[in-house]
Amino acid sequence: MAQTVLITGCSSGFGQLAVRTFSANGWNVMATMRAPEKDTDLRDLPGVALVRLDVTDTASIQAAVTETVQRFGSIDCLVNNAGYGGHALFEQFDDAAMRAMFETNVFGPVNTMRAVLPMMRKQGHGTIVNVSSMAGLLGLPGNAFYSASKFALNGLSEGMALECEAFGVRVHVVEPGAYPTTRFGANTDNALDVGDDQVAGYSRKLRAHIEALGEQMAQQGGDLADPQEVADAIYSCATSKDAPIHNPTGADARMLDSMIQSAPSRQAFLEQMRTMLLPQA
Ligand SMILES: NC(=O)c1ccc[n+]([C@@H]2O[C@H](COP(=O)([O-])OP(=O)(O)OC[C@H]3O[C@@H](n4cnc5c(N)ncnc54)[C@H](OP(=O)(O)O)[C@@H]3O)[C@@H](O)[C@H]2O)c1
Repeated sequence: MAQTVLITGCSSGFGQLAVRTFSANGWNVMATMRAPEKDTDLRDLPGVALVRLDVTDTASIQAAVTETVQRFGSIDCLVNNAGYGGHALFEQFDDAAMRAMFETNVFGPVNTMRAVLPMMRKQGHGTIVNVSSMAGLLGLPGNAFYSASKFALNGLSEGMALECEAFGVRVHVVEPGAYPTTRFGANTDNALDVGDDQVAGYSRKLRAHIEALGEQMAQQGGDLADPQEVADAIYSCATSKDAPIHNPTGADARMLDSMIQSAPSRQAFLEQMRTMLLPQA
């Protein structure tokens, strides 16, 4: 019998690609998004159903889980993909923006896992794949709040991976590098001009430096990084019992991970990062 996956944030980017990947491999897919009525691409794929789910709205999560079980019988895999970034210096990110980011990037996955884990535990199997970021491996200057949200997701995932083994439930985290997904870039630069000249000026300078570096690193494999790599990494976590807990994905994320592993200390690694990530005066 076909297995069933519920994926969040399927209106674009990695989520949309993950729907196609699971569907092409014969899975039942509950493709969830905030506005399913706008979808034109996914609803006709084999085994795919669409339902509204906002990860900050627990009633919508419960309704989507109930509909998935009614339609497909159970949930074998949950993919927490919904999330967003945002370049801003600490002083440019106000309290509402910070809390909104954590509601989506951290408490969103908490909400969906709360709704699905008891079922997986009782059925004695299941896989949860949390889409984090390479910003969860390193506190990125100009992205400290985004990094903090993805560090939180990584810590949560790591602890749960070990905790849930006893119940036959696997938890993995995929940490993509920089990818040209549909809308990820559009969300990042809203706060660039906030604050006084010193803050806004440095924010723009840092953003330009990191953007140039990101493009350079993402192209290390030759071509611009292909977002399908992330969908494939998610699928591999869902299907391979040998998949590691952490899955840095993309040339840049893997390079960062190997620099962390090979540095003699965290401080030595951060010294390397300072040279690389900060614009010269
Ligand atoms: N692209 C990258 O370079 C990159 C790198 C590392 C990590 N990531 C992570 O990858 C994940 C997917 O990002 P992407 O690059 O594919 O960007 P994307 O194209 O902007 O997709 C993000 C998705 O999240 C959804 N979303 C946002 N808030 C939501 C909420 N409250 N409830 C439900 N869905 C919500 C969006 O839906 P709407 O259409 O409703 O807004 C959209 O479908 C995110 O967790 C992101 O942090 C991306």
